[in-house]
Amino acid sequence: MTRLASSLSIHSPKKLIPHSPPSFASKLNVPKHRLRIANLPTPIQEIDVDSSNSNVFEIFKDLNVQFLMKRDDMSGGVELGGNKIRKLEFLLADALEKGCDSVVTIGGEQSNHCRATAAACRMVNIEPHLILRTRRANQVEKDKCEKNEDSFGYVGNILFDRIVGANIHTCTPGEYGRFGSNELVDRVCKELSAEDKKVYPIPVGGSNALGTWGYIEAVGELKSQLNGEKVDHVVFACGSGGTATGIAIGLALAFANDKENLPQIHAIGVCDDPDYFYNEISLIAKDMGFSVGDGSINDIKDFVENIVVVHQGKGKGYAASTQEELDFILQFSIQTGIVLDPVYSGKALFRFMQEVKNNPNDYRDSRIMFWHTGGSLGAYEKIESMKQNMNISSPIKRMDVYGKGLE
Ligand SMILES: Cc1ncc(COP(=O)(O)O)c(C=O)c1O
Repeated sequence: MTRLASSLSIHSPKKLIPHSPPSFASKLNVPKHRLRIANLPTPIQEIDVDSSNSNVFEIFKDLNVQFLMKRDDMSGGVELGGNKIRKLEFLLADALEKGCDSVVTIGGEQSNHCRATAAACRMVNIEPHLILRTRRANQVEKDKCEKNEDSFGYVGNILFDRIVGANIHTCTPGEYGRFGSNELVDRVCKELSAEDKKVYPIPVGGSNALGTWGYIEAVGELKSQLNGEKVDHVVFACGSGGTATGIAIGLALAFANDKENLPQIHAIGVCDDPDYFYNEISLIAKDMGFSVGDGSINDIKDFVENIVVVHQGKGKGYAASTQEELDFILQFSIQTGIVLDPVYSGKALFRFMQEVKNNPNDYRDSRIMFWHTGGSLGAYEKIESMKQNMNISSPIKRMDVYGKGLE
């Protein structure tokens, strides 16, 4: 078979592409290669806050806010989409460069990161191993041993993990807390190495110095899309810290000579306290080769605290939703046609809208950009709590096809 000419605009996901960073980031530790798997650039869309049926945006209307969304939920198909694929372009390039045949990573039962990793691994012919934290770990094992039954299920992200044939290793939240995610990844890596596999470990959320390059690049992408236009506030969900680090350090470097136009950066923490995230962002930034002051972690932390506001957005806890949050997600979807997720983007925007209500004058006459990081498959887990309102907002009616009236 003759191969297609390389001049055609066709990407081979496995092909290592030489990576040249945006000029503002050239002093960081620059990875040599990346892959091209994501659907980039993702669009920036303006959300109509004046639409007649709008009530979630009432406050924006009053304050004359222009509201934009950077649609990283559109960065891939259902199996790849969201923020993780940007990180995986760098992480899997490294895995391929090192000749690895297997990847091990870790996350919650409905981890978007694990789902995207599994699919991306299959694209580049690497075997995916996911460690999923679930309260059901012991029960699922018991069902398997005693009833020969697979009770893990197929809800949301799990369906896509399983469709692409991910190997799933389970642990309980208690074990995750006791041993830590890195130790658990290390254990599965050792087991696989003993079977002569060449294994590549990816930390939770893909949030290390290398994966974070996905969001340094994303800032370069945003800057060229804005084409000199100013955004006053950039807002996004923060889980393991890599996205926040890339956006914060990327924007700080990109606007280093134009500080007046540096947007205020709002990271909404969905699983930990702000202090934890200031620390985490600073550590990843240091690992990337970012330096200010005397280069110490304390100086980097001071810098980070100056440019990023981390908001406490975890509410009832990681992946736990209040009815108010779920109602907000439903209203937002009805008004915009865009689906947020209950664990990250929905929680983050809900929390940010409260911030605007509490401090309206900080946002008057401004342009706000919310970075939608994906994750809508997480909604499957919340059906029970959402269905009552959905049954009202999305009524079902039997057609009277034969014109005889309905029985
Ligand atoms: C949909 C979604 N948004 C945001 C985040 C947070 O990104 P990060 O882990 O880089 O902080 C995640 C992380 O899992 C996610 O899945």
